[in-house]
Amino acid sequence: MVKRDAAQQTLAAKEPVPDAEPMRMVRFNPAFSRLLGTISKTAIKVPSMMSLLEKRVLFTLARERYTGEGVIIDAGIFLGASTVCFGDGIRLNPLAKKIGKRWEKPIISFERAIINPGMPGFFKRNSVEGMAEPGESFASALEANIEPVADLVDLRLGDILETGQGISSPIEILFLDVLKMPEISRFVARNYFPQLIPGVSIVVQQDYFYERLPFIKTDQEFFAEYFTFIGEVCSTALFLCTKAIPESAIAKLEQALPAREQERLASVAMQRSCDPARRYMMALSKVRLIKQLYGSDSAEEYLQFVRKEFPDQVASTLPRLQDALLAIERLCSGADE
Ligand SMILES: C[S@@+](CC[C@H](N)C(=O)[O-])C[C@H]1O[C@@H](n2cnc3c(N)ncnc32)[C@H](O)[C@@H]1O
Repeated sequence: MVKRDAAQQTLAAKEPVPDAEPMRMVRFNPAFSRLLGTISKTAIKVPSMMSLLEKRVLFTLARERYTGEGVIIDAGIFLGASTVCFGDGIRLNPLAKKIGKRWEKPIISFERAIINPGMPGFFKRNSVEGMAEPGESFASALEANIEPVADLVDLRLGDILETGQGISSPIEILFLDVLKMPEISRFVARNYFPQLIPGVSIVVQQDYFYERLPFIKTDQEFFAEYFTFIGEVCSTALFLCTKAIPESAIAKLEQALPAREQERLASVAMQRSCDPARRYMMALSKVRLIKQLYGSDSAEEYLQFVRKEFPDQVASTLPRLQDALLAIERLCSGADE
């Protein structure tokens, strides 16, 4: 009770929503338009690779949408921001008591907690002090950050391919910022998609509108008939599960999709967003896919097409768009092999 009151007192004012800013505009289907709510101060404070807008959506999902019919899977939490968003959101959820009766720990959080070569740059930019070197653990920092909600969290440290086995509960919110390899994406499909509740569960794909990791888009779109796309915020896409996902569909995904089918799914993904900058990122992601499927010449050819289709984005001075193009050019030229 004390913790609930504390979270209630710390609601932060809403940040204005950038309506037309590339990669920042927020769009939800009308039925989900309330998902961009406020956020608790504790959740704001945890350093995160996500934007404040994305964190507000996670907090609002747990506060206003979560019913406790299933658990929340929170996968790839880094320093714990998503976990604190979900935990603080649950504390303020009008159904908190019922949720507490149903689940001793409604949030299952996954993190390997080993510093990778990209993280020291993040620590520096965000003034996160006292962190060790690549290869070492950051578990203690993560545990300290999520301490205010620890009573709600089953924290699983280690590789999700091992720690994520054996979850049989229904899953109501599936937050995914851990799909860094195709094996993990397939693991999540096999182990968690069948537990989604039709009409209730929401999958939050944090790396969706991102120029890398093309398998995230093709795997998600492979299951398009079981989902409705409900909105976009920064790199994140949200999908409502509308139909139970059968074992047979998962088995089909696991039998390597034909190249043409992967291309088609990447094109479906490209059409999801209202934002031309996001569609451009998805087109660059498709260049990566074509490189994997058919090699450099085909990828270069498709990149030429993308340049013609997205002249404003190619000319943009936004660092995010410039860096994405540069990385693709290097890939197509073979410099990254
Ligand atoms: C992009 S970061 C997540 C950022 C985080 N959502 C935030 O708000 O800052 C991806 C995280 O996934 C974790 N990760 C990558 N592969 C993993 C695996 N196989 N098992 C568990 N965690 C993993 C990384 O350690 C990293 O912290």
